[in-house]
Formats: sequence, structure tokens, C-alpha cells
Amino acid sequence: MKKLYRNATLIDAKAPQDLLVEEGKFTAIAPHIEADAAETIDLGGRLVVPPYVDPHLHLDYVYTARGEGATNGTGTLFEGIQRWSETKAGASSEEIKRRARQAVREEVRAGVQYIRTHADVTDPSLTALKALLELREELKDIVTIQIVSFPQEGMYAYPHGAELVEEGLRLGADCVGGIPHYELAREFGEKSVHKAVELAVKYDKLIDLHCDETDDDQSRFVELLTALAYMEGIGERTTASHTCSLGSVNNAYAFRMMANFRRAGLNFISCPTENIYLEGRQDSYPKRRGLTRVKELLAAGVNVCFAQDSIEDPWYPLGNGNMMNILDHGIHICQMMSFAEIDHALDLITTNGARTLHIEDTYGLAPGKDASFLVLDAPSPFEAIRQRAGVLRSVRRGEELFTRVPAQTRSKYDLLA
Ligand code: FE2
Repeated sequence: MKKLYRNATLIDAKAPQDLLVEEGKFTAIAPHIEADAAETIDLGGRLVVPPYVDPHLHLDYVYTARGEGATNGTGTLFEGIQRWSETKAGASSEEIKRRARQAVREEVRAGVQYIRTHADVTDPSLTALKALLELREELKDIVTIQIVSFPQEGMYAYPHGAELVEEGLRLGADCVGGIPHYELAREFGEKSVHKAVELAVKYDKLIDLHCDETDDDQSRFVELLTALAYMEGIGERTTASHTCSLGSVNNAYAFRMMANFRRAGLNFISCPTENIYLEGRQDSYPKRRGLTRVKELLAAGVNVCFAQDSIEDPWYPLGNGNMMNILDHGIHICQMMSFAEIDHALDLITTNGARTLHIEDTYGLAPGKDASFLVLDAPSPFEAIRQRAGVLRSVRRGEELFTRVPAQTRSKYDLLA
């Protein structure tokens, strides 16, 4: 069945475009398409973008912030890990899936169609990982979920952590995880980076490490990760999440690293709301922002995307899966608000995320790609950002996931109506 979407505004297109969809794929995108379509929908000149990608989320932790003993008094990353360690035991598969489903609902209703989630495998029964593997299958029609086999309490700081990560990969996880800055010594952190790369090569998996999520400028595991990924030729399949310490290192070191990141093709994920909240906690004033060098990485030609990370968990009390909210915070915190930067800001929650997830073969607005897209309640990229525009329509492989009527205001004053 042919479906024709008329009058769409696309980023960088000079004139409105029509989108022709057949069998779940785009078959043509052009200013005016004549087609014998079963259905024609006029988009009224609204902005059309590829679906939002949330490349870093902990679905097994969502809505656990208020649990008994889970409250994080210091608001630091390390107390968050401690609270989770003390309270995570006993969660059943059904409970994890119930919470994760609710979070997916929030994310998808906000326009997300791709999620990379970390599943904590520092649990000998691997309950969370197995629950999320089941959910990946259950929800595949509305969202694509990639799962990271993630040792929250360390590959070596937790008994048999490295073996549990490997077992997670055998069970079907898509990516190798790690947390080198949390290991008990620098050498163990380095060992965990070596292990992650070794496992990725052995099982042909992607890599996504929680890497240098600290203000400590001596935490430099991303250097080793980049070098190993480059030597193995898997840089583009490798991601460094957080890299907060890059915001604290000296410029000479950062300058040298930028060249290596680009050479390796490494991907970076920054979690603006999470890290502005968690980092800088040992600072008085001046107080650091705690984010990686997003603006400078992009200027160096390195791929960076933004992520939610947490929804109501021991690390972060808020979060709702609305990537436009994350983006708005991110461009403010990272000072990326020239008009040119604003016009392309949506890349940070769409195409850059897709590159990180390695899904570019099917993702994007082009003939031959999956007909998956969002219609935003705005006439241009600038207005979408300025107004934090909502999603009026989410289409996935040619099927409508939802449509939404724009909010209407009634007032006796013409100016306000
Ligand atoms: Fe995380």
C-alpha cells in the first residue's frame, strides 16, 4: 500500500518535500510527487525529522529513586552506585519489566524509537538482563532496544564481574559494557578496558563503556579505550559514555586526544541533565559543569550525541524520556547556541545517536531507508528548538505509532488565542 505524506519541511531542504512510503520504506522524497497512493496526508509544512534516539538509558533502574534505602543524600555518582547495590537485590523479572515498560511508554510517546539500555549484570542470576532481553522482543514493533551487558559494580570490583559480562553477551546482549573509573585501582580499570575490547572482538559486539564519569582529571581510561579500539579497527563500533573528566583535563592533553578520537572514529555520549547534576559535587566555587567537551568534540569532527541516562533512579530524581528537554539543557550547558548550531541541534538526538548505535543502514530520511519519522509541531528547526516543540506524529516503518492534536488555547483576547 502506498502512502503519501505531503508538504513536509526537512532540515536543509530549500522547499517543502513530499514523502512516499511503500512496504514500510521510503521510496521517494521530492518537492512534488505524483503517486497513486491509497492515503494522502498533508503535514502542513511542519518539520519532519528521523525518530529520536536515546542512546544511554538504564531501564532496569527506572522509578527506583524512592525505594526504601535508595535515597542518594550526597547526589554523587558513587553514592548512587552504593544505594543501588544495597537495594537492587530481590527485584523480580516481572517487576523490572513492569517498570521498564512504563519508561519505554514515556520515551516512545515523546518520539523515541531507538533506545540503548544498560542492563546491570553484577547479579549472579542476571535477572535484569534476562528481563530486558524479553522486553526487547516484546516491544520490537514500537521501539528498537539495544542492550549493554553492563557491570555496574565493576568487572573486577564485583566477584566474577567479567564472567557475568561475558555471560550477558552469550545470552544475547548487543554491546559490551564497563565502568573502569569505578574499579578498585587504575590497573584494574585498565584491565577492564582490555577485557571489554577483547570480548567485543571475540563475540563481534559493539562497545559502550561508562568511561571517566568523574571530575578527576587523572581518570583517563578513554585514552586506552581509543587506542585499543583503533588498533582492532573497531573505533566506529565503540562508544565512550560520559567522559566527564575530559571537561577537567588540561587543554594540551585534550588537544592530543581529540586527534586520536577522530582517527579511531570513536563515538561519544553525553548525558547533560545527569552529569550537570551528579558532577562538581566536591567543588565549592568555581563549580565545574561536569560534562565532556561536546562543542569541541563536534568541532574536531567527532561524533557526539545526547542521552537521558536515568528516570527516577538513585542517580537522578527526575527524567521523563523527552529528548527535546535533554537537548535544550545540553545546548545551554555546552554553549552551543549560535544560529547555525541551533539549526543542527536536532542531530544530537537523531542522526548522531543513530551513528552511535550503528543503525545507519536503515535509519534516516532517504529512499530505501525505513519509513520511520516524526512530525514536530514547528515549521523549522529553529522554532522546534526555541519552543521545545512536541511530537504530533510518530511513524515507524510506515505504521503510525501515534498522532497527537496540537494544544489549543482559548481566550477572549485575540493576542492570546
Ligand atoms: Fe549510565
